[in-house]
Amino acid sequence: MYKMLIILFGGVALLSANAHAVPRGELLGSTCMSCHGPGGKSKGAVPNLAGLDKGYFIKAMQDFKSGARSGSIMKRHASGYTDAEFEQMGEYFSKLN
Ligand code: HEC
Repeated sequence: MYKMLIILFGGVALLSANAHAVPRGELLGSTCMSCHGPGGKSKGAVPNLAGLDKGYFIKAMQDFKSGARSGSIMKRHASGYTDAEFEQMGEYFSKLN
């Protein structure tokens, strides 16, 4: 029983260490790649996200969310995130190139 508990807690510690290994911006941003291209580099009509200025990115997302900027699909995507998450994603995308 004692040994089992140690194994159990060891496993939990390992799992949470792994969860923290992926930066949150990367985790959130991974859902955007299906349209914006792998690594944020689009091959089609959808704009690139890789290397986008962080301030520009945050403003664009806030504007999509509020409706100040119109778009075909982005209002629906932007609506699900907080300002803190825009910040984290903006940080992540600005560093991709
Ligand atoms: C279903 C496809 C799709 C998904 C998924 C998607 N986008 Fe978009 N995105 C677009 C399209 C299309 C545009 C062009 C504007 C429009 O039509 O809404 C756009 C525009 C943008 C822009 C403006 C770029 C610029 O240069 O001005 C940003 C920023 C952006 N998307 C971020 C994101 C983020 C962050 C996610 C993930 C949370 C995401 N998008 C998910 C299709 C998508």
